[in-house]
Amino acid sequence: MNYVKDYAEKIASVLDGFMSSSEIEPIIEKPRFMNQGDLAFPCFQLAKVMKKSPVVIAEGLSKQLQDISGESFERIVSAGGYVNAFLNKSMTAKKVLKEILDKKEKYGDFDIGGNGIVTIDLSSPNIAKPFSMGHLRSTVIGNSLALIYKKSGYKPVKINHLGDWGTQFGKLIKAYKLWGSEETVKENPIKELLALYVKFHEEAGANPQLEQEGRDWFRRLENDDQEALQLWEWFREESLKEFKKIYDLMRVEFDSFAGEAFYNDKMDKIVELLEEKALLEESDCAQVVKLEKEDLPPCLIKKSDGATLYATRDLAAAKFRHDEYGFIKSLYIVGNEQTLHFKQLKAVLEKMDLTWAQDLVHIPFGMMLKDGKKMSTRKGKVILLEDVLNESIELARLNIEEKNPELATKEDTAKIVGVGAIIFHDLKNFRMNDIEFSLEDMLKVEGETGPYVQYTNARAQSLLRKAGELTVSCEGPINGISEWPVITELAEFPNAVKRAHEKNDPSQIAKYVLDLAQAFNKYYGEVRILEENEERLTRLAVVQSVSIVLEEGLRLLGIQSPKEM
Ligand code: ARG
Repeated sequence: MNYVKDYAEKIASVLDGFMSSSEIEPIIEKPRFMNQGDLAFPCFQLAKVMKKSPVVIAEGLSKQLQDISGESFERIVSAGGYVNAFLNKSMTAKKVLKEILDKKEKYGDFDIGGNGIVTIDLSSPNIAKPFSMGHLRSTVIGNSLALIYKKSGYKPVKINHLGDWGTQFGKLIKAYKLWGSEETVKENPIKELLALYVKFHEEAGANPQLEQEGRDWFRRLENDDQEALQLWEWFREESLKEFKKIYDLMRVEFDSFAGEAFYNDKMDKIVELLEEKALLEESDCAQVVKLEKEDLPPCLIKKSDGATLYATRDLAAAKFRHDEYGFIKSLYIVGNEQTLHFKQLKAVLEKMDLTWAQDLVHIPFGMMLKDGKKMSTRKGKVILLEDVLNESIELARLNIEEKNPELATKEDTAKIVGVGAIIFHDLKNFRMNDIEFSLEDMLKVEGETGPYVQYTNARAQSLLRKAGELTVSCEGPINGISEWPVITELAEFPNAVKRAHEKNDPSQIAKYVLDLAQAFNKYYGEVRILEENEERLTRLAVVQSVSIVLEEGLRLLGIQSPKEM
């Protein structure tokens, strides 16, 4: 139920075409004070076209509107250039509740995507390296955007563009052959492979010959050398096993794991196309596409030894995704340090006259900081994400142990709360902001955290359990005054979903569920919900609606809601 839209339509109906309801809706405000009404329409814009003072317009309009206000509005009055409406709260509340109870988790769905396909490049960690905080952010933001796009009527396709190709794998093979053992890699793949890689760089400092041998091994890999391929496949497999542990914990799934290596046989075609369009130029013994007109540095396509690059593979991937999926939009959830790369990528595709290049969208995000500094995975100083997740789950478990030792589903709940805390902490800020990593802050049950929202929902669920046999209903009487702050929040949910989609910004939803949780907790503190009187069933409808929307909001962030905590 969108009462702002209702109001806008009413106003438009008496305006003789001076403004349409879609022009009116976005400028409707909330009056500064409660006693001034619930909705305010400013007449200043109209004053210019109608060549009358806003005060005079507002007075005329309010009289006309009062006559046709119907039962949804108590009264409509003019106030210094504004037309203010007082909603019939009881009736509006019932309408909002009815819509939510009818639609349940489908409340807030809207069809803007027309079932069009959106590919989402997310997570995309690098093989043989630890899963970094940056990859965590990409996973969490991308997963939430996929859910938000689905709710907005698109078909998301989640692609994990694994970093599984490049000269570093030649170096890794060389290092493994020199110092590695099958056993140690099997025992602790990522840690051991990283150690080998680090050692390679230390040794290469004193022995430049090693660099060349690393490059040679990469060439053998690119030429399908059996030994090189086998080792590479094994490293990839072991790394993926580790990554999958993290994805399982976070319950993130992918439609495709086509990583960089997948494009090995698709790059010749790209180079051919670039040649056809005469876009390739020789520069410092490498093949590049110059982007001077676009005010960008040249995009490197091939090195002097013929080796392809990150950008070459991304060009092939973009084209493959277009041909394979026919996307209407192609999103890349990648840290803002790669902004230049994605600008170049798009510019090259545009130069190739591929019109769909304009549908590529880089969705950047800020860094995860620890004590104000970038978290580094290099030089062996690794914070393993799996450890972080497990620590968070453990802390959540201790919390539950202390507060609700009888809980039957302790282990599952601890998992849901521990992981939810990390996800929420990431998504509650606009994605471009850097965020400070603090397990302690993430897990607080007070304040702006995932557990706080989950706990609020568990509280609503517990009320519903206590109500037992009572049938929740919005048919009975309700005054609507104490409910009003909760009702207005509930009515706002569809707008939060729309904003999250428009801005590619899950924090719109995170902030929204915090506001709803806060409004509900206040209501819970002030009103005796289960008290026996004629409004009880409608109050329970409020509780149920809040729970539906909190759970759906959290779901859109990729967070589950335990019924009990
Ligand atoms: N593996 C890359 C990295 O860790 C991210 C890949 C992002 N996706 C892409 N299509 N380039 O930096």
